[in-house]
Amino acid sequence: MRTAICPTQLHFRRLVRHLLGLTSGDRLLRFGRVLTDIDIVAYAERLFTTAAKVFVVVERDQDISGVLTLDLTSSGPTLGLSVSSWARNLGVGTALLQRAGVLARAHGVQTLFVPNLGFNSALQRLALSLGMNVMCASGVISAIDAVPPAGGQQEVQRIGFAGSVTLADEALRPDAENANADTPADAAMTPVAILS
Ligand SMILES: CC(C)(COP(=O)(O)OP(=O)(O)OC[C@H]1O[C@@H](n2cnc3c(N)ncnc32)[C@H](O)[C@@H]1OP(=O)(O)O)[C@@H](O)C(=O)NCCC(=O)NCCS
Repeated sequence: MRTAICPTQLHFRRLVRHLLGLTSGDRLLRFGRVLTDIDIVAYAERLFTTAAKVFVVVERDQDISGVLTLDLTSSGPTLGLSVSSWARNLGVGTALLQRAGVLARAHGVQTLFVPNLGFNSALQRLALSLGMNVMCASGVISAIDAVPPAGGQQEVQRIGFAGSVTLADEALRPDAENANADTPADAAMTPVAILS
């Protein structure tokens, strides 16, 4: 069974290797843009100096197969998740997303923002299978959007997190300039569509 642990400086090189191994497409999904290798190293260095929650899955040979980052300090909590291509479809992503959900609940956070979620059908499926809600701007086409939500919106009750945690597309993040400073991100967000 794979478990997620908090990395130490000893994991730095392998963590960087994991992130550098992500393709351009993976980087776009994980970071919201295609970070250069130099950006990625700087990003990894920052992970050890910021308050972001970081979890990694370390394999028997000490390679890191998956990395979860949860920035709970920004205006809206941001989720970053990646699994090395050689370790996909083995449950690593599910384990890390589950950890993210538990952490979110422990911090009283209901909504985690994800870049380009509308284009990430794999992550949408993963979230729904764990009982999380998935919220994307309407009109975005994804594999699991094949059955259009009735009336533009549809809420799904599932086992696991039972809808207590929502993954929302970064595009739905409340406008920092217009948002009421007293209004938590969760309350300020207007749901557009919940996919099933
Ligand atoms: C999205 C991503 C994190 C998924 O990671 P993963 O480790 O492959 O996910 P899992 O293995 O837990 O689940 C993937 C599939 O494998 C299946 N699976 C899970 N455990 C399994 C197992 N032990 N054996 C076989 N299949 C399994 C899951 O049911 C799921 O099936 P589905 O595609 O029908 O939904 C990964 O593809 C990735 O890193 N993508 C690039 C970056 C990205 O998109 N990040 C998310 C945005 S922040």
